[in-house]
Amino acid sequence: MNQELEIIKQNVIKCTKCDLCKTRTNAVPGKGNSQSDVIFVGEAPGRNEDKNGEPFIGVAGKKLSIALDEAGISRDAVYITNIVKCRPPNNRVPKASERDTCQEYLKQEISIIKPKIICILGNTAFNSILGGSEIMKFRGKIIRKDNQLYFLTIHPAATIYNQKLIDILKIDIIKLFDLIRELKNNREVLVDIEYTS
Ligand code: URA
Ligand code: SF4
Repeated sequence: MNQELEIIKQNVIKCTKCDLCKTRTNAVPGKGNSQSDVIFVGEAPGRNEDKNGEPFIGVAGKKLSIALDEAGISRDAVYITNIVKCRPPNNRVPKASERDTCQEYLKQEISIIKPKIICILGNTAFNSILGGSEIMKFRGKIIRKDNQLYFLTIHPAATIYNQKLIDILKIDIIKLFDLIRELKNNREVLVDIEYTS
C-alpha cells in the first residue's frame, strides 16, 4: 500500500475522535488502488465490514462488485471508502457531527489519490460531500465543484431487493467508466451541474 494511505489507515484504526469508536468492533479504513482514477464513497461500514475491518464486503459490497464486473473493472483497480469509517449502531445513518468529525480522513484520501472523478454512492455521501439530496433525481449526473469532478449514483444497498435498481447501478457504473476513459484521453466531458462555492 501507498505509504501515505497506510498512515491514514493506521490513524483510522486507532481513531477515537467521535462516539462511534465506542460501539465499533473494527474501524474500516478505505481500501484499494492508490493510483485509481476513481474513489467510490459509501455511507458507513455495516455489520460485515465492522467485523472484518474492510469496506463493502457484505451484501451491498457484492452488488457493487457485480456492477463493476459488468463494466469490466476489477475491484483491485479502484479505491473504495466511506463517509464515516466506523459502523453506526444498528446501521443508523451517521449523524452530522460524526460525518463532520470523520471527513478529514476522506479529504486526506482524496488529496493523496487525486482521483479524476469521485463516485458518490447514495444520499448520505451526496449530502455529506455536496450538500445534496434526492439521489434518484441526480443519479447518472456529473458535477464539478472546486475543479473536482463527481459522479452520482445510488447506494448498492438500495439494489439488494430491487432488480430495477441493480440495472440502474450497472448502467451508471458503465457510464462512469466510459467517462473515465474520456478523461484519460484528455477529452472534454459534459458537466451536468457546476457548483459554485
Ligand atoms: N454500506 C456502505 O455504505 N459501506 C460499506 O462499506 C458497506 C455497506
Ligand atoms: Fe474516528 Fe471516523 Fe471512527 Fe469517528 S467514525 S471514531 S471520526 S474513524
